[in-house]
This record gives sequence, structure tokens and C-alpha cells, in this order.
Amino acid sequence: MAISYKELGLVNTKIMFQKAMEGGFAVPAYNINNMEQVQAIIHACVETDSPVIMQVSKGARQYADATMLRYMAMGAVQMMREMGGNIPIALHLDHGDSFELAQDCIENGFSSVMIDASHLPYEENIALSRKVVEYAHSRPDYVSVEAELGVLAGIEDDVQAERSTYTHPEQVEDFTKRTGVDSLAISIGTSHGAYKFKVKLGEEPPPLRFDILEECQRRLPGFPIVLHGASSVLQDYVDMINKYGGHMEGAVGVSEDQLRRAAGSAVCKINIDSDGRLAMTAAIRKVLAEKPGEFDPRKYLGPARDALTELMKHKNEKVVGSAGHGAEIMAAIEAAEGAAVAR
Ligand code: G3H
Ligand code: 13P
Ligand code: ZN
Repeated sequence: MAISYKELGLVNTKIMFQKAMEGGFAVPAYNINNMEQVQAIIHACVETDSPVIMQVSKGARQYADATMLRYMAMGAVQMMREMGGNIPIALHLDHGDSFELAQDCIENGFSSVMIDASHLPYEENIALSRKVVEYAHSRPDYVSVEAELGVLAGIEDDVQAERSTYTHPEQVEDFTKRTGVDSLAISIGTSHGAYKFKVKLGEEPPPLRFDILEECQRRLPGFPIVLHGASSVLQDYVDMINKYGGHMEGAVGVSEDQLRRAAGSAVCKINIDSDGRLAMTAAIRKVLAEKPGEFDPRKYLGPARDALTELMKHKNEKVVGSAGHGAEIMAAIEAAEGAAVAR
């Protein structure tokens, strides 16, 4: 039986993005696959009073199970309230690759979906994105839709992008008008994973193409832009992984300065997955290296969860700037809903 995200206590991204645009910050989108990640998100975001998007890839859905995820999201909302928090939480499909997957997620309580047809020819991208929008927006509770123009380098779920293609700004008005999407992911030089740029020792990675972002922003005033592949690949975690038996030489990400600049622009959603993976892996490797006899999962998953919580607090406070905006956005959502009921 289909369930509405509202029954789970979730919200869509509409007002989150309006507030992010006005306030010059971005909402963090953290990927989830398991309980520890959900707990870390709730702790970090309640403690920093931050709105948050919990996002689920196709692979994560296969890993965790659709029904389990629905109850995990419900549990997250409940836990947030029991902690005394009042923050907006969205549940989002990350890199959805078909109408059927987007539909299934919406029927299972997702408040937002991404349809990623960016690797298809332009007209096919429009047709598929439009189809998802028609379905999502026709729901009585209005599910938000993100689509993508341009292709990021690296692996996007099952889709291997051989070469990245920057977004062509001259397409953005036509694309958003004809699809009706609520937000648009663009390609300005980021990529997925922990190896984003090939740089020689001591060299800085190339800057993001802010000229493309600015041109998109000029052509779509007030329209929410999304940045994928936005992990910074913090050196401390890479060093820790290497110190305790891992091999991640040459891992490099997007600098925090560049992300802060993006968050202050029309970028309203910043996707972070790899940084969380690194923080968890570093903590787990340390425990297992220092205590080779340890075999209670709580003894390594607990420190991994703590490391993830600290990482997310840092992101909310110092990178995306969402800290302190949770309750304020919740109040705006409640006011908008009250006004709709009154009408
Ligand atoms: O962009 C992809 C996300 O990092 C999710 O990765 O497909 O391995 O779950 P995944
Ligand atoms: P990172 O691999 O840079 O964390 O990007 C995550 C992402 O874009 C998820 O959609
Ligand atoms: Zn992505």
C-alpha cells in the first residue's frame, strides 16, 4: 500500500531550498545505507539545528531494503523529536535511473526524487524528467524532483561516465521550463568518489567552473542548483586510513573554500557521501588495528558513528552553512501548511 511522506513526518525540499537561497547557505544531502549513518545524521543535525536531506541510491535501496528504509526514516523523525529537535528532514532518491524506481520510492514515502537521465540525449532527458515530474507533482502531498544536465566524471551508481561534460548554460532555461523540475544538478568540475582530480604532489586541484554556475544562475534567477560529488576528501581521514593498513594514495576532493563559495550562491543542495565513508572507514581501521582481538561490531561501528557525527557537524557549521536554520525552516513549513489548510 502506498504511503505519503507526510505520514512518516518528512518534508519535501521546496521551502528548504527557498530558505537556503534567501539565506546564502546550502542544505546538506547525506547518503544513507545503514542505521549508524541515520543515527549520525540525526545527532549532528539536531545538535547544529540544521535541515537535512537523507538520500538513498539505487544500490543503497537494494542493500538496505525498501521497507526497512521506510521505517528507518520514520524512526529518524521520531528519534529527532525525542531528542527535542525540530528540524526538517527530507528523504530523497539519489540518481534514480528510471520512472519505475522514482514511482516506487514515492509510493514508499520518499519526499523527493532525482531522475538522472543526464547521460541520455537532451530530448530523452527532458521526456523522462518530465514524466517523473508529472507523477511526483500530481501527488496530493507534492513530491520534489531534481534532474541533471551535464555529466559528472566518475561513477554515478550503475552509470559509468567515461568523460565528464560540463553543463551547457544555454540549455538550462529550456530544460527547466519544459520539465517543470524543482531543482537542477549541474556539472562544473566535481566528480563522485575519493579520487576527483589527478594532481601531482603539492599541487592544488583545478578550481570549479564558477563561470558556468554563475551563467546558470543568471539565466535562472532564484532557481535551486544542486552540486553532486562535493566531498572534500579530508586528508586527516585519508592519512588515518593509510596509517592503519589502507591504501588510498592520491585521494583528493573539492576544497572547502570552493564549497563555501558554492553554498553562498544559487547552490541549495550539496551532496556528501565519500567524506562519510572515509570518516567511518578511518575509525573502524583504527579500532581493528589497535585491538586485533575485537570482534563486537558495536566497538567499531560506535566509533565510526561518532566520527561521522563530528564530520557532519563540521559540514553543517563550517562548510554548507545550514547550522542554525532547522527550526526556522520548520516554522516556515508549518506556516505554509496552515495557510493551505485555511484556504
Ligand atoms: O553518487 C553516488 C553516491 O555516492 C551513492 O553511491 O551508488 O555506491 O550507493 P552508491
Ligand atoms: P561524493 O562522492 O563527492 O561524496 O558525492 C556524493 C554524491 O554526489 C551523491 O549523489
Ligand atoms: Zn551524485
